[in-house]
Amino acid sequence: MYNQPMLKDDALKGKTIVVTGGGTGLGKAMGTYFLKLGANLVITSRKLEVLQKTAAEMEAETGGKVLAVQCDVRDYGQVENVLAATISKFGSADVLVNNAAGNFISPTERLSANAFSSIIDIVLKGTVNCTLAFGKHWIAAKQAASVLNIVTTYAFTGSAYVVPSACAKGGVLALTRSLAVEWGKYGIRTNAIAPGPFPTKGAWDRLLPGDLAEKFDFKNRVPLKRVGDHQELANLAAFLVSDFSNYINGEVITIDGGEWLQGAGQMNGLEAIPNEMWDMLEQMTRGAKGS
Ligand code: HXC
Ligand code: NAP
Repeated sequence: MYNQPMLKDDALKGKTIVVTGGGTGLGKAMGTYFLKLGANLVITSRKLEVLQKTAAEMEAETGGKVLAVQCDVRDYGQVENVLAATISKFGSADVLVNNAAGNFISPTERLSANAFSSIIDIVLKGTVNCTLAFGKHWIAAKQAASVLNIVTTYAFTGSAYVVPSACAKGGVLALTRSLAVEWGKYGIRTNAIAPGPFPTKGAWDRLLPGDLAEKFDFKNRVPLKRVGDHQELANLAAFLVSDFSNYINGEVITIDGGEWLQGAGQMNGLEAIPNEMWDMLEQMTRGAKGS
């Protein structure tokens, strides 16, 4: 695994970046790297104490400036408050990373209507709320900016047992591609990252509770035979929000070690055949000539 920081020093200097769900997991990893590259950072989520603790850790580690703002992305008024607080503290908001999410595994027929809605509200409506509030501001201010949405690979394949999340992430992907075109003329770029498995407490507690983590070890699903390292995702995110990617718009970049393709290719299961069987199989397939 190669997980060195990628971009040159100060690559994000002068940018103020807002990361929703930035107090934990992948949001925390991306935010920390943005700070190391010279950005100002705003982190938001529902739990203020978590945000404040993370902000203090990040400032101590990087020497950068972090503003922690409590915000439930389901509430448009609270999102507008994040925007106002960001501008008040740093003078502008330049990048929005829609990373906040909710998810859990369940057979769909066991879900209440409210359970289904709660995921759609956080993931799809929350992303819409943030994008709309920031987008209106950027367009009115005639400011170039960018949005990075964190989706998943099952945004394009769908997935059993996480159906509300699959529906919501699919919607976020449609939002990404739609606004890339509609808002391109305002200088607003919109892109997405589709991560494969990157161990975080938030995801693992809800997707692989108890001994599922052992029974359903994600690394066995990945051709590269490992899960992702947070810095690998942070490197990609930093590139996509930096000016080095100024001509990338409407793209979704998968970072999953090949996981979703392994699940998709019809004959990929032949990986299970031991090497010594291939001589016999070759004779059999050659013998099929003319049949
Ligand atoms: C069935 C459930 C449930 C479960 C909650 N509900 N958990 N139903 N099985 N395990 C139901 C509740 O009974 C309720 O319905 C409704 O869902 C809302 O639940 P609340 O607890 O009131 O919601 P809330 O406090 O808003 O919490 C949202 C949450 C929670 C999503 C349920 O888990 C959360 O806060 N998650 C945030 C962090 C997170 O999920 N991180 C993981 C992202 S990972 P009723 O009908 O009873 O009112 C990710 C990875 C993708 O996205 C791919 C990885 C490889
Ligand atoms: P995580 O640590 O649980 O992150 C989710 C964050 O969202 C939390 O900080 C949470 O904070 C915040 N959040 C949840 N509901 C919110 C709401 N209503 N308003 C505001 N913030 C809210 O999990 P993670 O693994 O780092 O996930 C980060 C992103 O990566 C998500 O979009 C997820 O779908 C995506 N992803 C992760 C993986 C993976 O393998 N880890 C794979 C594919 C995609 P509060 O509880 O304080 O609100």
